[in-house]
Amino acid sequence: MADEKIPRRDAINYLLGAGIGALGAATVFPIARYIIPPAASGSGSSSLAAAKVGELKPNEGKIFKFGNAPGILVLKPGGDPASALSYAAFTAVCTHLNCTVQYRDDLKEIWCACHNGHFDLNGKVISGPPPEALREYRVAIKGDEIFVSSEEA
Ligand code: FES
Repeated sequence: MADEKIPRRDAINYLLGAGIGALGAATVFPIARYIIPPAASGSGSSSLAAAKVGELKPNEGKIFKFGNAPGILVLKPGGDPASALSYAAFTAVCTHLNCTVQYRDDLKEIWCACHNGHFDLNGKVISGPPPEALREYRVAIKGDEIFVSSEEA
């Protein structure tokens, strides 16, 4: 009888230890992931097709994936969809606290909903807490595709 209690106690101790270990891992892992962000990938490749010509109407924006981060492509109000000069492209990561910005056609501005940050179509801060302009991307049209690259625009 006494022999049976010892293995049960060991099993309970084992389960308790495993539970505490799992709880510790579940606590530490997200903290470590937050403190140590993943390395940016695709640093060598800095150009991609963000949209097709004709996909955007004037005064419309589109979020696209640029490496690990979102980008935003805007066909300016009154712009010619076939002219690269009519487009503006930026990182869509707000310079305040990294929320994703969006295009507001009613304001003709890029807007960050997190803390009401406003950017003009040159990426410059109009109002709100963002400390810096959005980083601008270069836009080029090749065939029927609109390419965005991270070279200085
Ligand atoms: S994160 Fe964009 S305004 Fe705060």
